[in-house]
Amino acid sequence: MAKKRILSGMQPSGLLHLGNLLGALDNWKALQDEYECFFFVADWHALSTNYADTSRIREFVHEMLVDWLAVGINPHKATIFVQSANPDHAILHLLLSMITPIPWLERNPTYKEKQEQIADRDLATYGFLGYPVLQAGDILLYKADSVPVGKDQLPHLELTREIARRFNSLYKSVFPEPQELLTSFPKVLGTDGRKMSKSYGNTINLSDSELIVRQKLKTMVTDPARVRRTDPGNPDICPVYDFHKIYSPLAVIERVNRECRTAEIGCIECKKLAADAMVAKLSPIWEARTQFSNDSKQVQEIVEAGAERAKRVSHQTLEEVKEAMKLP
Ligand code: TRP
Ligand code: SF4
Repeated sequence: MAKKRILSGMQPSGLLHLGNLLGALDNWKALQDEYECFFFVADWHALSTNYADTSRIREFVHEMLVDWLAVGINPHKATIFVQSANPDHAILHLLLSMITPIPWLERNPTYKEKQEQIADRDLATYGFLGYPVLQAGDILLYKADSVPVGKDQLPHLELTREIARRFNSLYKSVFPEPQELLTSFPKVLGTDGRKMSKSYGNTINLSDSELIVRQKLKTMVTDPARVRRTDPGNPDICPVYDFHKIYSPLAVIERVNRECRTAEIGCIECKKLAADAMVAKLSPIWEARTQFSNDSKQVQEIVEAGAERAKRVSHQTLEEVKEAMKLP
């Protein structure tokens, strides 16, 4: 039986951090055997909010690919490519834009939310409004059965299905309706105790060195009520304890849970244990990162081969689209 196809993308708008690893990449990696996978760097999507400053986009694309490969996204299993290397994404975006009613886009919750969140940039652009149309194009171009995403992407997936239905009913049934593949993962807090996010500047990046990771943990917030070494603490409200739960062996987790409450362990030692566990998990990724970082030719070859594979599928879909639309 043919494997089901999944597709997912990530915007290269910054360096990847532990939240991205636990929230998406670990999951992608686990799906590689069971599904036919297409994973792409959504560089055109990143322009929708970063069009005014593109100075680091090349670097972010490259670092993202290095991160993916280093964590174990495997080019022999998955098709890895960069969106802008396959112009078919732009063509399908254009064609779908013709049939997408503006009110569908205006009522997209992430449209208003992001505009409010990112108040320092002018997002009253055509490209930003059309973001979900480009995303629908990404997904429909490969007729993906499922799309692994976080909850925040559900409105975009719903729009993708609506656009697919509209196309199918206007012309001919070309597109299957893709389903979301939601993953549950531990909520990852940043060094300031808020959700880990690059916009808060509280991330631990996959590209951080061991020294930086240890430093970041040292300055990480803890239970704010634990002021003196002799004050008992509450691990349940401490973001360091969250890291323990993700990275430490069970014995350490249990020890911290017990000894924090009785002030037997101090925060400095507790953070050191968390850093040790994190470093142990990240070390193999760092090693692989160094290797891919030093071999940009290999990375380039991987994405070029990926783009060729992607194009073979997308060309076929575009032929069906043109035929359905009776385009010359
Ligand atoms: N919008 C997605 C995000 O910000 C990125 C993305 C672009 C994507 N195209 C996609 C995700 C297609 C899944 C499928 O995370
Ligand atoms: Fe947090 Fe550890 Fe300090 Fe307890 S001992 S407050 S879990 S850092």
